[in-house]
Amino acid sequence: MYLQRRNRTLRQSPAIRAMVRETVLTPNDFIVPLFIVEGVNIVSEISSMPGYYRRSLDLTVKDVRELWAMGLKSVLLFIKCEDNLKDNKGTEALNPNGLMQRSIRSIKEAVPEMCIMTDVALDPFSSYGHDGIVENNEIVNDATVEVLAAMSVSHATAGADFVAPSDMMDGRISAIRQALEENNFSKTGIMSYSAKYASCFYGPFRNALDSAPGFGDKKTYQMDYANRIEALKETLMDIEEGADIVMIKPALSYLDIIREIKNAVEVPVSAYNISGEYAMIKAAAKMGWIEEDKAILETLSSIKRAGADLIATYFAKDAVRLLG
Ligand code: PBG
Repeated sequence: MYLQRRNRTLRQSPAIRAMVRETVLTPNDFIVPLFIVEGVNIVSEISSMPGYYRRSLDLTVKDVRELWAMGLKSVLLFIKCEDNLKDNKGTEALNPNGLMQRSIRSIKEAVPEMCIMTDVALDPFSSYGHDGIVENNEIVNDATVEVLAAMSVSHATAGADFVAPSDMMDGRISAIRQALEENNFSKTGIMSYSAKYASCFYGPFRNALDSAPGFGDKKTYQMDYANRIEALKETLMDIEEGADIVMIKPALSYLDIIREIKNAVEVPVSAYNISGEYAMIKAAAKMGWIEEDKAILETLSSIKRAGADLIATYFAKDAVRLLG
């Protein structure tokens, strides 16, 4: 048999495969989510996320030093708010000496070059576990947006490089942008969770932060997973309103959306390889059904190949180790 083209020519050795590889992961691709708790010298494994930990601030700072030394360039901060500080309006979220604000300051001081991104949403602070203020069993939009804007200014004041609103309220990006401008934070970036779906895969995260909604679900603000065009609409609007980076979340069940958005926008696209996606790999590996290391690299490569310029992932450290 004489063939004009033999595609296997390009697959015949590791050297040739490396030469023609289209998608290459680097530590620059990853955003590392961190869960911070009150206290000193605390490191507690999250039961639904084996191998991932909540740490007190002192140990978080140590961890961030290590992440920087590994070549990782950005962290995404989440804090676990004490129960007695939670209320309907997320008052604690604006406390200049709150755990989030103290964390930003300490990390900035310890590792000034690290890009600090902060979660902006009410759920960790909300007595209802919702991302917004609750009135008559509804999550009210505009009053919530005011708090999100104030929260963003508070994070910027503490030294955040990027605020990352994960709430899906309408109009929050323009309100946050305007509030930042008014307060002279013209360099603070916004990474918007622009297409965030109402997903069952957030379960392990809600367990980590004790932030599960106390009633109902999040379907009046997070998107219906059946929708594609709506993701484009949300994302294009966020860019118009002033988002510097847009995000699709979750990642794995939404690779088509990542590609669609990558093709449509001119800002960096990020994707969140979320807690349930982490937990599935961990669980299957624990059962001996898949090889964890290979699953990590294949998963992260697929997200990048789909079009993500940045990937928030609990596997960041593992990936850097595996990339050697
Ligand atoms: C909420 C928020 C969630 C995550 C990040 N921010 C969960 C939710 O919407 O309930 C999930 C992250 C993950 O699952 O890894 N503002």
